[in-house]
Amino acid sequence: MKILVVGSGGREHALAWKIAQSEIVDEVFCAPGNPGMDEIGPCFDVDPTDLHKMQELVLQISPDLIVIGPEAPLAAGLSDALRARGFDVFGPSEKAAQLESSKGFSKDLMKRFDIPTAAYGRFTDLTEALDFLETMSPPYVIKADGLAAGKGVVICDELEEAENEVEAMMTGKFGDASTEIVIEEFMEGEEASIFVLTDGDGAIYLPPAQDHKRVGDGDTGLNTGGMGSYAPAPVVDPRMMELVQTLIVEPLLSGMAEEDMPYQGVLYVGIMVTPSGPKVVEFNARFGDPECQVLMAGLPGDIVPALLTCATGGLVHGHREIAEMMGVNAFQPSACVVMATEGYPESYPKGSIIEGVADANAVEGVTVFQAGTDRDSDGKLIAVGGRVLGVTAVGMDLKEAVSRAYAGVDKIDWPQGFNRKDIAWRALK
Ligand code: AMP
Ligand code: GLY
Repeated sequence: MKILVVGSGGREHALAWKIAQSEIVDEVFCAPGNPGMDEIGPCFDVDPTDLHKMQELVLQISPDLIVIGPEAPLAAGLSDALRARGFDVFGPSEKAAQLESSKGFSKDLMKRFDIPTAAYGRFTDLTEALDFLETMSPPYVIKADGLAAGKGVVICDELEEAENEVEAMMTGKFGDASTEIVIEEFMEGEEASIFVLTDGDGAIYLPPAQDHKRVGDGDTGLNTGGMGSYAPAPVVDPRMMELVQTLIVEPLLSGMAEEDMPYQGVLYVGIMVTPSGPKVVEFNARFGDPECQVLMAGLPGDIVPALLTCATGGLVHGHREIAEMMGVNAFQPSACVVMATEGYPESYPKGSIIEGVADANAVEGVTVFQAGTDRDSDGKLIAVGGRVLGVTAVGMDLKEAVSRAYAGVDKIDWPQGFNRKDIAWRALK
């Protein structure tokens, strides 16, 4: 069978890499892909949010399954457009993807289905927002309603700073994405990411993961898309996982199905682990990046039957067998160290040459997933993005996975790159 992977980041490289290992897959196509994905199968330079061009491409290659990686094409309605043409798509509809593309939508849904999360208010009026803010206690959590490339959440210790932030957002800091905002209660605890594969009815739970959002060691400095990840994350023990299932995922999936917007694809549940159980920080409509890299690396089996069944239905009957095919119960501990261009997450230069990827891939257990890479006119690998490589490794235990990942990092010759030195510290401490 032929599968098209949509996206161009480390997450999509990991998906394409894993899908290509399936015995039932003959060919993997990517749109737009990256130099790492180009080694797996043909890449087509099409913008995934351009629905017209994407439909043309899909009609041309006629894939048996389309796997959509990033949130932007989901929010733009790509799954709906391709399904309307009769294709099988792994990824939620535009309506269901509002779980990620509108924080207000997602909070209202949680309230309706009685899902544990922070108390909140939703505002389009500045005066009302400022009045509400005064009733809250610090730290103040202010969120742009729409997609803001991971920058739409600001946490302030002082009321005045929070008032300024509310005003900045509502007067165009993130354009249309922040004319509406959510103000919510601050939750104390450790964060973790839970990924659920679903056809809207049945569900397969992947091992819990954790990412490192801050740029600096010890979780300090600016927020990023994620500087590293690991799985399984011991902070989510089996009891906590069961609570995530019964208090969060089951009510959400059944509620969305009842409201005529069944959720299909991968559901990303960002939770705060608190003494009174898990609370939702956010939902996303896609895999995490770099959490996807450790999940794909650590699953020893075939992921394609799961992706296909999520797209076509029937998971509720087959979920045990399909989870077994993926090897969920034989998951190998896995860690990913992100290498980024010096300067990230602020401005950074483009075009520096990266060497040693093949040497890193030769280290036992290591796979390098590419994100912000390109080829120069001589065919040399260059950095063109902030997050550039995800050096990922599996091991007998997390300690071995982490040490192999760093052995891989040592093989990369890229003076303009940097990485955190403490990936998985919470689990290893
Ligand atoms: P979000 O995009 O909603 O996941 O928010 C980005 C980050 O802000 C989260 O990963 C948390 O670290 C933090 N955050 C968001 N909401 C809250 C909250 N209510 N309490 C504490 N931290 C939060
Ligand atoms: N690693 C966090 C995210 O993908 O949103």
